[in-house]
Order: sequence, then structure tokens, then C-alpha cells
Amino acid sequence: MPSCLLPSGRDFPVVTVVKSSAIRRKEHSVNIPLAKPVFTKEMEKAAVNAFWNEHFVLGESVFKFEEEFARYCGVDYAVSMSSGTDALYIALVALGVSHQDQVVTTPASFVATSNVILHANAVPKFADIELTTYTIDPRKVLRVVNNKTRAIIPVHIYGYPADMDSINEISNKKGLYVVEDACQAHGALYKNRKVGSLGDVACFSFYPSKNMTVAGDGGMLVTNDERLATVAAKLRDCGRKSKYVHDMIGYTARLNTVNAAVGRVQLRYLDEWNEKRRRNAETYDRLLSDVPELILPPEGDEETRPVYHLYTVRTKKREELKTWLESNGIQCGVNYTLPIHLQPVYRELFGFKKGMLPRSEELCETCLSIPMYPELAGREIRQVSGKIHEFFKDR
Ligand SMILES: Cc1ncc(COP(=O)(O)O)c(C=O)c1O
Repeated sequence: MPSCLLPSGRDFPVVTVVKSSAIRRKEHSVNIPLAKPVFTKEMEKAAVNAFWNEHFVLGESVFKFEEEFARYCGVDYAVSMSSGTDALYIALVALGVSHQDQVVTTPASFVATSNVILHANAVPKFADIELTTYTIDPRKVLRVVNNKTRAIIPVHIYGYPADMDSINEISNKKGLYVVEDACQAHGALYKNRKVGSLGDVACFSFYPSKNMTVAGDGGMLVTNDERLATVAAKLRDCGRKSKYVHDMIGYTARLNTVNAAVGRVQLRYLDEWNEKRRRNAETYDRLLSDVPELILPPEGDEETRPVYHLYTVRTKKREELKTWLESNGIQCGVNYTLPIHLQPVYRELFGFKKGMLPRSEELCETCLSIPMYPELAGREIRQVSGKIHEFFKDR
């Protein structure tokens, strides 16, 4: 039996541990994964080329990727970052959000959306969502805005654009910044404009499961504000004015060159992949619309064109359905098991309790993401849908 040595000097039987943890977690073999990024020889070639021919840090590919991503979003500036979280955090810092400020966001998101507010020494204020779109409810935003509020972070959750006209109306009236969390919505359209171009600044994530990736962690901040872009670029690079002169307290939050090179190629395929995701969503919609126990994701219309980062259904029988699908080799996700305000650390810090943001709680209690990615075949969608029908047939 192979073994490796633990720092303590104890022998650690690798094979046994791997086996028993798999049994403990009741892992099933996966035939249809939840998500599947696309990697091609072209991407590998771009990465290898950058590896041999460019600086690893802030090489040419980084700046080209920024230019191309800004053009794609229809904005003037893009500043790449080491993650979506860093992009959000640096956006807040660059806007001057700090101690005693409040920032309004939705609890129905990945925890990073709110963590960055705390990292910036500000206080998160949660507004509940609309259950028809799963995005922040502007009427609820109005209820929590006060004279300490500095910014709103709407999240285009699952790839569905938030109600940006209403959010911008509130921000204009109250003098607030709008930071779009577009980490799940690369390429989504709102009234013919790309998300990322709808507020003061927007942030994207390139984590591998996203609609496009850089083959690792990565992020992008986009804006039309030259000052903001300049400050953000400085903050992500140690607050550098020049090589060893620093006029800001910055961070090391740069995107690596090899990752940027992959991102450039991925970006060229993004629209095609999003179209495939939309087609897959249409097929799911058609095949699942006759299951009364299931609520399907918002479809979008001529004004709102989602990109289905996730295809998330809702059902009161979420846990049983998940177990059933997984036992049939179909991987599922729960995005998210808890709304942010009910995460243990948020309960402890702020005293949040169940019942305070009921729609976000309902979403988290009932949501189930089923496989969605560009290369998902029609036959696989039929297989997933068939298994869902089978599940509800006898219940
Ligand atoms: C809505 C949302 N916000 C922020 C983030 C953070 O991005 P990253 O994982 O790149 O730090 C994510 C990524 O999972 C996300 O989905």
C-alpha cells in the first residue's frame, strides 16, 4: 500500500483514506457533470506561447485581454485581477467606501459579494430578492438605504440581469454608487447593453465553472471612469507609481499572464457558448414545463437576455430530487444552501435570524441547479429531464 509521510512523521495510508472518504460521502459516479469548461488546443497553445515568450506578471497578454474585454462589454476600461472577489473589493476601495459606510446587496449570492464589504471596513445591508428573477428587489433596497449608504451591489445571479433601471434610478436619487456583481453573467444583455456597462463599475469572475474562464482563478473590473480604472490598476499592483515607488497602500491582486492568454481565446467563444447555453435552457424549459412541482428559472425576454450560468429549478422536494438525480449519475448543485445572512459567521456578527429575508431563504431552501454547459448534448438534457419526470411520477 502506498503511503506518504505526514509532517508529524506518522505514516499516512493514502489509498485507504481516499477510498473510505469516498464511501463516507456516498459518492456516485458522474455521467453528466453540473458544469464543464471548454478547453482546446488553441487555448493550450496560447498559454504555452505566453509561458515562453512573455513576462509571467503583467505581460502583454494581460493588457490585450483587458482591451478586448473592455470592448466586449462596451466600456472604456478593464483592469484584470486575481479573482472576482479581488475585483469587487478593489472596486469598493477605489470608490472610497470605508469605515462607517453601508453597502446594500442581496443575500442570495455567493458569500464573497458581501465579504468584500466587510473587508472594506463597511457594513453590508441586505435587501431581499424578487422570486420571479432571484435578483435584488429595488423596493426592498429603498427600505434599507439611509444617509450612511454609499453603494448598491446588484448581483446578476445565475446569469440573469438585475432590474438595473430601477437600481440606477435609486442610486441617482440618493447619490449612491452602483457596483454590478457580474461574476455569473459574462455576456448577458439588459436592454441591448452588456452587463458590466450598466453601473459605475462592474466585476467579473473567471473561476473555472463560469461561462468563461482563464483556466484558474481570475477576475476583471470594468468601468467608464478613467480615475477609477487608474486607481484600481494601481491597487491591484502593490499601489505602485513606478517600480519601487508606491503612493497608495495596494495589494498583490494581479492576473497572471498565462491565465490572461487563455482568457483571450475563451472570450472569442463566449457569445457562441452563451447561445448554446440559451438553446439548452430552451430545451429544458420545453421538456420540464409540464412538471407542476417544479418552478423553472426566469426565461428573459427581448429586453433581458440571460446567459444561464446555472439552470436552477425550484422544488419543495429538493433534497430527495438531488439524491435521486445523483444516484443516477447526474451531478447537481445547490446555489446556495444558505443565504448570506444565515451563514454562521454573519449570524454571529450581526445577529441575523431565519425569517428576516424570507424570499432569499425560500430560494435557498428549494433551489437545485441541474447540468448546464455549452457542450451539453440534447440527448443528455433529455436524460436529465426524463429522470426528473420519473422522480415526480410516483410522488
Ligand atoms: C456572484 C459571485 N460573486 C463573486 C464571486 C467571487 O468570484 P471569485 O471566485 O473569482 O473570487 C463569485 C464566484 O464564485 C460569484 O458567483
